[in-house]
Amino acid sequence: MEAVALSGLALALALALPSVALENGLARTPPMGWMSWERFRCNVDCQADPHNCISEQLFFEMADRLAEDGWRELGYEYINMDDCWSAKQRDAAGQLVPDPKRFPSGIKALADYVHARGLKLGIYGDLGVFTCGGYPGTTLENVKQDAQTFAAWGVDMLKLDGCYSSAEEQAKGYPEMARALNATGRPIVYSCSWPAYQGGLPPKVNYTILAEICNLWRNYDDIQDSWESVLSIVDWFFTNQDVLQPAAGPGHWNDPDMLIIGNFGLSFEQSRSQMALWTVMAAPLLMSTDLRTISPSAKEILQNRLMIQINQDPLGIQGRRIVKEKSHIEVFLRPLSRAASALVFFSRRTDMPFRYTTSLAKLHFPEDAVYEVQDVYVGKIVGALRTADNFSVVINPSGVVMWYLRPMALPVQPWHVARQQAPGEGFHPALL
Ligand code: GLA
Repeated sequence: MEAVALSGLALALALALPSVALENGLARTPPMGWMSWERFRCNVDCQADPHNCISEQLFFEMADRLAEDGWRELGYEYINMDDCWSAKQRDAAGQLVPDPKRFPSGIKALADYVHARGLKLGIYGDLGVFTCGGYPGTTLENVKQDAQTFAAWGVDMLKLDGCYSSAEEQAKGYPEMARALNATGRPIVYSCSWPAYQGGLPPKVNYTILAEICNLWRNYDDIQDSWESVLSIVDWFFTNQDVLQPAAGPGHWNDPDMLIIGNFGLSFEQSRSQMALWTVMAAPLLMSTDLRTISPSAKEILQNRLMIQINQDPLGIQGRRIVKEKSHIEVFLRPLSRAASALVFFSRRTDMPFRYTTSLAKLHFPEDAVYEVQDVYVGKIVGALRTADNFSVVINPSGVVMWYLRPMALPVQPWHVARQQAPGEGFHPALL
């Protein structure tokens, strides 16, 4: 039974999926870790604010937290420097160098520190004359040299931003950096901001090409520390899901930007919603918060094991919004391996907890199946549910209920493998 299902999957994959991924073998599941930008920005005033400025101290301390507070074991392994780490000028050899006051030990020493704790180091560059924060950029002439510098330092991930360059320069430079990184021989996950600078949509953005070049890419605006910002990102990604959803898969992911859970802008319910919706999107889980002072409740959301298991599902199928009710309830579905699924019931209401009634049949699950349902946040098994059964969930304002559904009995009829579907075909849980 298992063998038949597996060979069916292999065949379906071979037939349906062109091999388009960047073949560096990296990021087979969405990258997880920590990134400095949203929380710590370009604070370079180490005199006035020594504990929060962009300095090696900040990264040493966050690396300690990742290694000691249970994050690393859950998969949060990247510690990513964003903008404002470098000196304002390249050195005499034209090489990028870190700010000597704020990074006196140098980036190689930082990478060694991070590696010694079983973590990986990410760095930030910008294809253009300057970075967005006004630090030296990587123009086309610098691409090779900078790739070699990053590799020599022992860097494991590069975010290449796109401020201060033209569309033509980006079309040349992003693929060139992919080649330059590969040529170093060091495995370096490559995150491209290219689509975000070209509006994120075809015809200006070609997601097939992008997946051949980059492991992940920013499609849209920067996240800010507010619910409004999270909602605008969610709206854009799901409004454009017919374009974006098929672009994602093992080795190549859409990136709706960092998790802001643990900061100042989200309520408890909204924090749970960001985590659930990012997981449905198969998004990278890059936290940008102060891990030294994070609250237990924010930590619990970010360290939810079942959530992370769903986010990291090996099939790497991005989920979709499948229902948008007039009542301002929305339902999202992500197909998972072993014919499992994740469902997110999301309330945009602003009045009170809402009782939403539906059935798996209405959500296009296969007829005559039975599922074991587990509530991802409560942790408990809710019970067994047949496709035809009506059920209700109570969803708090701006909150979610999230379910993990494992098949207990499946129909005899073969089920279509839901993978990369044309718009309008509907979207079904997969029997894989
Ligand atoms: C851009 C990027 C952000 C961040 C800043 C740094 O705005 O989109 O994620 O890297 O630049 O200046």
